[in-house]
Amino acid sequence: MHHHSHKSPLPRYYQLKEIMREKIISGAWKPGDLIPSERELGEQYGISRMTARQAITELVNEGMFYREQGKGTFVSRHKITQQLIRLTGFTEDISARGQAPATRVLNVTMIPADENVAEHLRIRVGLPVLRLQRLRLADDEPLAVERSHLYFIGCEQLVDDDLEHQSLYRLLEAKYGIQLIQAEQELEAGLTNEEDSKLLHLPIGSPALYTRRTTYTNRDQPIEYARSIYSGSKYTFYTHMMRNQLVL
Ligand code: GLP
Repeated sequence: MHHHSHKSPLPRYYQLKEIMREKIISGAWKPGDLIPSERELGEQYGISRMTARQAITELVNEGMFYREQGKGTFVSRHKITQQLIRLTGFTEDISARGQAPATRVLNVTMIPADENVAEHLRIRVGLPVLRLQRLRLADDEPLAVERSHLYFIGCEQLVDDDLEHQSLYRLLEAKYGIQLIQAEQELEAGLTNEEDSKLLHLPIGSPALYTRRTTYTNRDQPIEYARSIYSGSKYTFYTHMMRNQLVL
């Protein structure tokens, strides 16, 4: 170890943890950076891979790092990031940063489509659609309230599915054989109302991000219209932009 003498009473994994924490605080390691492997850290600091692994694991558990299968360990962004490039669902976003996603179904029922929902789903007003309201959590912390409307042949079967323990997108793809192709999403700043504040454990009028997303199974067929509200202090929306270049 470079920064502590060998007389230091602190265990070695702990020292490495503090060194790595310092790298993040000082900005030497930035959010999204790949950190050195266990082997590299072991060589650099003259410790075993096991010791390096223990230090990394603890920082993963603290949320400072996240692991990506087959890619390595990365420095976490301060907030939960929802990608605006790839079409992903809540479960995927939360899992990608090494947290445990969870769902509380607030309400799931068939209702006649009102004008707004019908317009977004491109169906006739009054057709029965599935309305699904969910509280979404990460590591037991409430993050978002999502209110989805779905329309497809057989959508009423979703009422009987276990939506507390399964991702909606996964169910649609795996069980219903529906291919999700693309989505459009609007993003708007706002304040939490009374109902959402209670669900998100926030004071009424807290900053929030509202999204409206229409998800399509193919170019012209919407399958889900969802209005979601994200706790503003916990969420970041990330987008990557390029100038003068074709992105396909
Ligand atoms: C996002 C979208 C919702 C969508 C959900 C699916 O959060 N805002 O419109 O329903 O992802 O997530 P999951 O597959 O975890 O149910």
